[in-house]
Amino acid sequence: MLASLAVALSGCLPTPSLRDLANRKGLAFGTAVRESALSTDSPYSSTVASQFNLVVPENELKWDALEPQQGTFDFSQGDAIVNFAAANGIAVKGTPLVWDSQNPAWLTNGTFTRDQLIAILQTYITTVVGHYKGKVAQWDVVNEAVADDGTLRNDVWLQAIGPDYIDMAFEFAHEADPNAKLFYNDYGGEGLGTKSDAIYNLVAGLKQRGVPIDGVGLQMHIDASGSPSPADVASNMSRLNALGLQTAITEMDVRLPLPATNSELASQASVYQSMLRDCLTAANCGTFVMWGFTDKYSWIPGFLPGYGAATMLDDSFNAKPAYYAIRQDLGG
Ligand code: G3I
Repeated sequence: MLASLAVALSGCLPTPSLRDLANRKGLAFGTAVRESALSTDSPYSSTVASQFNLVVPENELKWDALEPQQGTFDFSQGDAIVNFAAANGIAVKGTPLVWDSQNPAWLTNGTFTRDQLIAILQTYITTVVGHYKGKVAQWDVVNEAVADDGTLRNDVWLQAIGPDYIDMAFEFAHEADPNAKLFYNDYGGEGLGTKSDAIYNLVAGLKQRGVPIDGVGLQMHIDASGSPSPADVASNMSRLNALGLQTAITEMDVRLPLPATNSELASQASVYQSMLRDCLTAANCGTFVMWGFTDKYSWIPGFLPGYGAATMLDDSFNAKPAYYAIRQDLGG
């Protein structure tokens, strides 16, 4: 009897939902989602629908998924997520339009002149942003263009086009959907330091040149060690606000060494809580997105062996301390 009650309760989250609480605060509260899980795992899809007012396709709007052969676009997986979101009254954020990773082989292995690569970039952004015009309200236009030492990442875009590929990407996206909010997105520059200074200088230059950028995404793939400090993140948000830019926390997760102890889960909860509080307190942060909400589908164990337990719900969709900490910040 007790066992069956426990099964029945497993995965049940209290009301009001995080989504309802976030709506009351005017916060876009989101998670990365996987189409493969949305379409096959009903506890997963029902939790997305009940707890979030924003979703971000984790891989389905990346270049290798959307244009596997040059000139042949496949929107099927992205459309499935956008349709799920529309059916549930959920907004969609897209990521990323330009990146050094998850590009199709024809692009990675091809040899192109500068003009050819600019044309490829323009066609891709125009086609993708145009396809989702009015459906994807916010795009990460350029992702991870700054290296850890603060220089521009020496990738295919920089090598073939030069630093102005960044300006071009924002211009192309704005032309394709003038109403979409356009962000620069990166990791490791959430607080203060060499990389966040470089990102600050990059976006200050974009603003100065009149490039249509709306904000900076702070990915926030972190551990529970206390770095970056909430105070540094608040300062970074504040200096970006002074440039007239929005900020967003775009990919938050807090990895722990496995198996996680109760005290590590408590530290993780306070890290989630302090970063969400930074966003809620800042004058210019209206979006808080987690890179997955259940440990069942987190990218961490596959990429960082020995680490995991990085999200607010366990493998069975049960609430962890991080869930309650987030809920408390949202006023629940
Ligand atoms: O789609 C193929 C599938 O056809 C194949 O059978 C399978 C076999 O490995 O791989 C599948 O592709 C995987 C893809 O995720 C979709 O599941 C890739 O191998 C895998 O590398 C890829 O990982 C993604 C990673 O970006 C790639 O860089 C993660 O899921 C995704 O969470 C992660 O997300 C990034 C953000 O976009 C940018 N910021 C950092 C963040 C974490 O790395």
